[in-house]
Amino acid sequence: MHCYFVSEFLPKREIVSRQRVALVTGASRGIGRAIADRLVADGFNITISARNSESLHRAADELRDAGGEVFVAPADMAVEGDVIELAIAHDERFGELDLLVICAGVGFSGELGDFPIRKSDVQFVVNFRSPLMLIQQLLPTLRATAALESEIGSKVIALSSITGVAAEPDLAAYGASKAALISLCESIIVAEAKNGVTATSVSPGFVDTDMTEWVRDRVDPSTMIRADDIAIIVSALSKLSRFAAVPNVVLTRPGEQLWRA
Ligand SMILES: NC(=O)c1ccc[n+]([C@@H]2O[C@H](COP(=O)([O-])OP(=O)(O)OC[C@H]3O[C@@H](n4cnc5c(N)ncnc54)[C@H](OP(=O)(O)O)[C@@H]3O)[C@@H](O)[C@H]2O)c1
Repeated sequence: MHCYFVSEFLPKREIVSRQRVALVTGASRGIGRAIADRLVADGFNITISARNSESLHRAADELRDAGGEVFVAPADMAVEGDVIELAIAHDERFGELDLLVICAGVGFSGELGDFPIRKSDVQFVVNFRSPLMLIQQLLPTLRATAALESEIGSKVIALSSITGVAAEPDLAAYGASKAALISLCESIIVAEAKNGVTATSVSPGFVDTDMTEWVRDRVDPSTMIRADDIAIIVSALSKLSRFAAVPNVVLTRPGEQLWRA
């Protein structure tokens, strides 16, 4: 018996004639890795980045097995020089950028009253300052690539968090850094749509990855959002025309924890 999928009945959108190019930070594992898998399956050439070179190369080998052209560019998003070098390395390798996915992020929990300011600083650097810098460095490439793709344009997708939308106990500084990212994506839409560049923040509740290990004793990982759920959203966003902007996508676990992490 033949099983029909909904997509078989939908008219196929001719995406682009050239091979599109993406850069994904935090791509060695977790959500970023799931996104890289989906993008390679969608036919993107891709730069993958994270700190650990070994795990990046392992991921790259697997992505190449799936047919992608994959460039490995290790970088620590806590180090300003690394952010700039990442942008340069990507430009030198591909010279184009249809989709910048900012997934590298860090999360520290702790009570608001005595949360160490130093930890808050690190979170803001990795979760907001470096993404802003990376976007600034790559804007000329995003704009130039958007000019090649009059229908789709170029897109920035940044992994925010549901804690950037609704406050969550013990995640005040993390949530604030993610709220900043949501605001940044809106500003990109306002400032750069005329150049064909739009942006979306994706704001999930708990996703079953290494990052949620600290909460597994009270939230069963089998009930968490799947990393591939985020990748499906990113894949869909990458296919939208430049005339549809999606400022923020919230994914919440269903049930009584609606709007909670
Ligand atoms: N998991 C969740 O429940 C959840 C929910 C909402 C939002 N998010 C956000 O989604 C994003 C991905 O989270 P995840 O759950 O996939 O985390 P993860 O499984 O811990 O993976 C994090 C990825 O980012 C890289 N990374 C971490 N710190 C970095 C740094 N300073 N510089 C460069 N790369 C760095 C890691 O590789 P290296 O260690 O080798 O650098 C890894 O590839 C984060 O921005 C997170 O805040 C996660």
